[in-house]
Amino acid sequence: MTSNQNTECYVYITLPGETESVTAGRFELSNDRRGNALGRFVYGKSYLARANAVAIDPMELKLSGETYETARLKGVFGALRDAGPDYWGRRVIEKHAGVPQLGELDYLLNSADDRAGALGFGLGQEPPAPRRKFNKTIELAKLQQIAEALMREEDVKTEEAAQVQDLMLIGTSMGGARPKVVVEDKDGLWVAKFNRPDDRWNNTRVEHAMLELAKACGISVAASRIQSIGGKDVLLIKRFDREKTDKGYTKSRMISGLTLLRADEAAEARERWSYVLMSEELRRVVKEPKRDAPELFRRMTFNALISNLDDHPRNHALIAKGRDWQLSPAYDLAPMPQIAQDRRDLAMEIGDQGRFANAKNILSQYARFLLDDAQAKAIGSKMTDQVRASWYNFLRTHGVTEKDAETIRGAFVYEGFLRD
Ligand SMILES: Nc1ncnc2c1ncn2[C@@H]1O[C@H](COP(=O)(O)OP(=O)(O)O)[C@@H](O)[C@H]1O
Ligand SMILES: [Mg+2]
Repeated sequence: MTSNQNTECYVYITLPGETESVTAGRFELSNDRRGNALGRFVYGKSYLARANAVAIDPMELKLSGETYETARLKGVFGALRDAGPDYWGRRVIEKHAGVPQLGELDYLLNSADDRAGALGFGLGQEPPAPRRKFNKTIELAKLQQIAEALMREEDVKTEEAAQVQDLMLIGTSMGGARPKVVVEDKDGLWVAKFNRPDDRWNNTRVEHAMLELAKACGISVAASRIQSIGGKDVLLIKRFDREKTDKGYTKSRMISGLTLLRADEAAEARERWSYVLMSEELRRVVKEPKRDAPELFRRMTFNALISNLDDHPRNHALIAKGRDWQLSPAYDLAPMPQIAQDRRDLAMEIGDQGRFANAKNILSQYARFLLDDAQAKAIGSKMTDQVRASWYNFLRTHGVTEKDAETIRGAFVYEGFLRD
């Protein structure tokens, strides 16, 4: 465990096509005179001199010799925060450290190096050697037990402590903080998501079915499969930010929608939680705006159709495999049945009627998604027909019980969606 309350660290990056990381720059966290956190990042000169150097964040941390400063997000730049643990991971780290509250930098320094994206953090000027060993899919039963013990707040046996640290350190602080680990099989790395004992339906099978349904609706999604272990279903989602090669894993850079929007999870920043803004921001960054902006429109429509009301900006991301950025495949698609039939709100603004998950609202800002009126309407009506006609079959085909399918029936194409 790295000592508490570190104030500076090196930031490492695995460059496109490479499997070993290099030092990109230095990050320093301090307090200003008023005691507010202030973060500083500067790229190293030798990094800037590399012909293949790439920016950590295409908007906020462009390649230059400048010292960047931020007072937002407790001083942690969005792109760095995205590489750190969230609710679930923080819990794992705290458990491991035996300390309830660590400094922001300590979370970065102590999270496992299979974190999302291409960044790493450490105290040494030179990056450590890449990690070669990962948990295997065949160890899932054991990992599931550890995750369950953590969920029950039980102490994990010391001989298992090393494995605890291997648990994937990313979750969400939005209440959807599901337990997960990273596992490897012959094809590469997967995010494994477990059911929770307090789930009201089989979440992993439902999420798998939703990824398949989204794919059938023309949305680009992360590949996934279900693995059953001792009667429990685990959802395995192929990591889209890793690629297995003979030399090891290549890594894609990744920033969350939250970082793209320059927003955070604080209530004051939620006014920037918007699909419309997200579309405008991504159009400035991605290589193919004409592909990605309509794709975002399809995801927003799909989320409204399945009442995925937890579609907050961290459930969207941009990735860059080479130099260029693009919208990542879709992930974390979770229907939430509600009693309300008149109006449901997505987590992000959709159009002229705010967050209202409604067909007319979705169509109100079509041009910002680089669509014309006819194209937007065609996407909306085709997807509505498709979800209405096939949600039940998709659930059942992917092993969701009749009882669970009935429990979540109310999530699909609710009445208010079509209301004028
Ligand atoms: N297939 C994937 N490849 C790479 N990163 C992923 C993948 N799926 C999810 N992630 C990352 O892990 C985080 C947590 O996954 P998510 O499915 O959203 O879990 P939760 O249900 O706990 O919110 C995401 O916000 C994203 O950063
Ligand atoms: Mg999520």
